[in-house]
Amino acid sequence: MPKFTSISRRRFAQLAGVGAVSAIARPSIAWPSEIIARPVASPAAASAIVRLNSNENPYGPSPLALKAMTDAFSLAWRYPDEHADTLIDTLARINGVSREQIVLGDGSGEILKVCASAFTGPMTNDSKPIELAKPTRGPALQFVPGRGKLVAADPTFEAILNHARVNRAEVVKVPLNKTYAHDLPQMLAAANEGLIYICNPNNPTASITPKDQLRDFINKVPRQTIILVDEAYFHYADSPHYESVIPLVKDHSNMIVARTFSKVYGMAGLRCGYCIAQPETIRRMRPHLTWDSVNIMALAAAIASLNDPDQVPNGRRMNNQTKQFVSNQIKQLGYEHIPSQANFIMIDMKRPVRPLIDAMNRSGVSVGRAFPALPNHMRVTIGKQNEMEAFLGAFRQTIST
Ligand SMILES: Cc1ncc(COP(=O)(O)O)c(C=O)c1O
Repeated sequence: MPKFTSISRRRFAQLAGVGAVSAIARPSIAWPSEIIARPVASPAAASAIVRLNSNENPYGPSPLALKAMTDAFSLAWRYPDEHADTLIDTLARINGVSREQIVLGDGSGEILKVCASAFTGPMTNDSKPIELAKPTRGPALQFVPGRGKLVAADPTFEAILNHARVNRAEVVKVPLNKTYAHDLPQMLAAANEGLIYICNPNNPTASITPKDQLRDFINKVPRQTIILVDEAYFHYADSPHYESVIPLVKDHSNMIVARTFSKVYGMAGLRCGYCIAQPETIRRMRPHLTWDSVNIMALAAAIASLNDPDQVPNGRRMNNQTKQFVSNQIKQLGYEHIPSQANFIMIDMKRPVRPLIDAMNRSGVSVGRAFPALPNHMRVTIGKQNEMEAFLGAFRQTIST
């Protein structure tokens, strides 16, 4: 954490001490102006490698989030209940839902894991409810073991597939269709009472599943099958054929929509995500959650980010500009990518990508891993302009060998 070395250990200890005796007189830290102006401790600066492999937002968190985190240093000794409540209230208001319809996760990754635990498992699982100890807050919990398959696209974001396998659930992969959308009729045909995972926009293809098709599908899925729509890249999508399905949750008790602060909000290292569903579905998820899993810094930053009107439009605009630049450049070199509705592109390399990924690494540019379903495609995160120039240099070198 190179930037943090500018605060001495003694100063940090003083801050923590002040917080322990007084949460009211919050000390403020004078951040060096370059941190506020250039909020991200650039991964490229931290090492020689240009990191374009994880679909992070290179512009980092909102300045308001950085300020909120410095203010929260002195509260690090406390459990994060009040901050969690404030974030839940804010998200409920923004999304037009009640508090009981939201759970927070340690990144949306925790949401995906919880969904796999709650809604997938062997068909032999007993559906008898088990009483659990009452948590510190909220009502008593009952746990019903998950049953049923996980149905997901191929390729897609694979974390949930692993969680379902760990849960001993059958996992069915349904190839994307010719337009790289989810093949919804096939997914519906494959499902039983478990979980269908729809990643929209999809990682690693950056493609979308059109809104009309998705709405129609949601209407057809039987109520005992849960539909999890992962909208991690929602903010980057601007196609008229794309929409969030959050407004459909009120009419569908089997829907869950996951969101994250890791992408356009630039908080991947902080870990905060959430989901929206009907209260009964949320109740089924609760026994699988870690209590207080989102830390106070992440909560403070998330609340502040939502109050920053510039974070999303700026992130989207800078991503679009740089994406257009890279897209034009690779086209001039004779390469195409799948139309992208996210902060990354999937380039058709016209030959097996594995050796090309290795060659890019040797040139100091780390791109996404190979995806067996699309063995000729290279996934590249859209970084800052200078990072993408470095990428193009390595790309030219790689394709010429
Ligand atoms: C589609 C998708 N969902 C979820 C995640 C996990 O994000 P988080 O950082 O919120 O755990 C990612 C991360 O790259 C992702 O691409």
